Amino acid sequence: MTGDLAEVRERLRRASSVCALTGSGISAESGLPTFRGVNGLWRTHRVEDLASPAGFARDPLLVWTWYNERRAAHLRAVPNAGHVALAALERRSTDFTLATQNVDSLHLRAGSVNVLELHGHLREARCDRCGARVPLDGELAPDAIAHVCGGRFRPDIVWFGEALPRDAFARAAEAAARADVVLVIGTSGLVEPAASLATRAPRGDAFVVEINPEETAISRHADVALRGTASDVLPRLLAGESETAVAHGGSMP
Ligand code: APR
Repeated sequence: MTGDLAEVRERLRRASSVCALTGSGISAESGLPTFRGVNGLWRTHRVEDLASPAGFARDPLLVWTWYNERRAAHLRAVPNAGHVALAALERRSTDFTLATQNVDSLHLRAGSVNVLELHGHLREARCDRCGARVPLDGELAPDAIAHVCGGRFRPDIVWFGEALPRDAFARAAEAAARADVVLVIGTSGLVEPAASLATRAPRGDAFVVEINPEETAISRHADVALRGTASDVLPRLLAGESETAVAHGGSMP
């Protein structure tokens, strides 16, 4: 199906309900590495071995070293034009939901309000026994991992093998199902159930737009693929420049 930026912008203008799903790609231009790109490893460790209950039980100090570095990188990062454009799009929409797989808080810092953090966030640590929370303004010191209740503080992140926050995912699924336009931005679409938000919307109702420099597992569900970066394409959805999109599966002319 061939669409172009003008068509996507017109559909957004007419839409009474919009749902956006973002992944690490939207934060790549803020200097934060994606998961399956060239930075898919941290030192010599597979992300799956660190972001898991088993990895934390095996070596909580190593896991906190990784998350302390990620938290510090998040605090250094600045929302880019893609984050800012999504916040602007929300302000002019009557019903806008932003479901993100990212834990970097950059959407909130860019001004987005209705944000569902499907994989959690790094603003707090949570005791794995009693659920007590402490703010993560900086690092969590090694001697602060143990909690007085006998549990251990862990990042408030959804790890591999763990369920997403039930309420957040339910609200995201409802938003995707009622949306007139679903924007899928900067995600490989390889991790469920988040990826299903881009395919769950009944095709008859939602116009699905993928914004990604590369083809992904989502592409075949998209009505239009805008092959470009989030910080380049998203502002253009607001600004009115037109550019030929790639026909589904096609290549830029
Ligand atoms: N603009 C838009 N998309 C981009 C950009 C950019 N500037 N740079 C890279 N991308 C795209 C890549 O082409 C890729 O399709 O972003 C996607 C990033 O994919 P992944 O690295 O798989 O990250 P993501 O989809 O967010 O992973 C989902 O997997 O590891 C778990 O919990 C983790 O939330 C994460 C989930």
